[in-house]
Amino acid sequence: MSDKPYSLKNTESGAEFELQRRTGTVGPSVLDISSLYGKQGVFTYDLGFGSTAGCSSAITYIDGEQGVLMYRGYPIEQLAEQSTFIEVAFLLLYGELPTESELNAFDESIRTHTMLHESFLRFFNGFHHDAHPMAMVSGVVACMSAFYHDTTDIQDSADRDVFSHRIMAKIPTIAAAAYKHSLGQPFVYPKNELDYCSNLLNMFFSVPAQSGSYEVDPVSAEALNLLFVLHADHEQNCSTSTVRLAGSSGTNPYSAISAGISALWGPAHGGANEAVINMLEEIGNAKNINKYIARAKDKNDSFRLMGFGHRVYKNHDPRATIIRQMCHRVLEKLDQGEDTPLFELALELEQIALKDSYFIEKNLYPNVDFYSGIIYQALGIPKAMFTVMFAIARTVGWAAQWREMVRDPESRIGRPRQLYIGRAQRDYQPIADR
Ligand code: ACO
Repeated sequence: MSDKPYSLKNTESGAEFELQRRTGTVGPSVLDISSLYGKQGVFTYDLGFGSTAGCSSAITYIDGEQGVLMYRGYPIEQLAEQSTFIEVAFLLLYGELPTESELNAFDESIRTHTMLHESFLRFFNGFHHDAHPMAMVSGVVACMSAFYHDTTDIQDSADRDVFSHRIMAKIPTIAAAAYKHSLGQPFVYPKNELDYCSNLLNMFFSVPAQSGSYEVDPVSAEALNLLFVLHADHEQNCSTSTVRLAGSSGTNPYSAISAGISALWGPAHGGANEAVINMLEEIGNAKNINKYIARAKDKNDSFRLMGFGHRVYKNHDPRATIIRQMCHRVLEKLDQGEDTPLFELALELEQIALKDSYFIEKNLYPNVDFYSGIIYQALGIPKAMFTVMFAIARTVGWAAQWREMVRDPESRIGRPRQLYIGRAQRDYQPIADR
C-alpha cells in the first residue's frame, strides 16, 4: 500500500485537499483526518466507528475477511496450541515472549498478588445474594483504587507494572468472592502454589468445611487456560475502547478497567455467552431450530441468533473454530460425551444457519461466544458467571491496551464530536406562557 496522500474534492467550492495516509505493518492504511475540521469545517460521521481507527496499536491484529487473529504477531492458533495464559499475558503486556527466567519471575509475581485486603472482602456483604456477579465485579474493581493508591501514578512505569500484575492476580479472587457470595458460602482464599487457572477453580469450588473434598481436575484447568488465551485481547472492541476512553482522561486504571467490565456485560458483547445458553435452552430441541432461524431473519422480531455475527469477522471467527474443537475434547474427557444435548443442538444450529442464504449473504458466522458457554457449563460454572470469566481473561488485554495508550506520546483525551439534530436557538418562555 502506498503512503501517497489521499485527495478529496469539495464539490461545493471545487477545491481539492489532501489527507495524509498512514500505513501500518499489515492491514488497511488510515486517513489522518485530525486536521479536517480545522481546514474544511466539517466532521466525519461514523456510527459505531465502523470505518474509524481510534488509535495506533502494536498489540493485536485482526483480519476479519480472512479470519485471522494475532497477538503481537503470533497467530492465535499457535498460541492456543503451544502457550499458556500466563505466557500470553506477558506477551501482551511486554511485547515479546518471555525467556524462562522472565516467565518464572512474572508467574511468581502474579501468584503473590492474589490476596485481597480483608476490608475489601467486606464490600461483598453489602450486595444482595442475588446480585448479578458482573454488577459486583465491576463495582468492587472500581473500589480497588481506594485500596491501592500506591499504583495510581499513571506516569510511573513501576506503578503501571504493579497495577498490571495486581489487577490480573486479583481478578480471579474477586470473581470467586462474587460467586461464593451468591451461594452464601464462605470465601476461599487463594493458594499461591496453584497455577492461575487451578487456583481460580479451587477458589470457586472448594468448601472450607470439607477440606480435601475438592481436587482441581487438570482437564478443567487446561480447558480454562485455553479459553483464557483465546479471550485475552481483541484489539479495539467495545470494552477495550471504553477502557481507553475512560483512561484517556488520566483517571486511575482500576476505574478504567471497571468501565470496561461494565461495557463487556452487554448482550451484544461479552454478555452473549450467557445469552447463547439461554437461547439454546429456549430452543430446547433440534426440531425447533427452523422456527428460531426464521425469527432471527424476521425484521419485525428483535430476536437475534446469539453468538452469531461479528463487527469485524466476515468469515469464521478463528476462536470459535478452536473452541468448537475443544468442546469435543473437553466434553469427552470430562465424561459428558454422551450427555451434551446443548452442544449437539449448537452444532446443528450452526450447520443449519451456515447453509441459510440470510446468514451467507450477511457473512454471519459463529463468534467466540457461541461455544464458550458450553465449556463453562461443563466445568460447572453457572451461567451468570460466564461473562465474569470473559472479564478475567480480558483484564490482561485491557491492561496492555491501557499501558500502550498512557505511553503513547500522541494520546489525547478522547472526545468525539456530533451531528447536532436538536432545536436551533430559541427564546426561553416563562412557565405561564407554555
Ligand atoms: N442474528 C440475526 N441477524 C443478525 C445477527 C444475528 N446474530 N447479527 C447481525 N445480523 C444482521 C443484522 O440484522 C443486520 O441486518 P440488516 O443489514 O438487514 O439490517 C446485519 O446482519 C448486520 O448486523 P449489524 O447489527 O449491523 O452488525 P454490527 O457489526 O453492528 O453488530 C453484532 C455485530 C453486535 C455482534 C451482531 O452481529 C449481534 O448482535 N450478534 C449477536 C450478539 C453476539 O453474539 N455478540 C457477541 C459478539 S462477539 C463479542 O463481543 C465477544
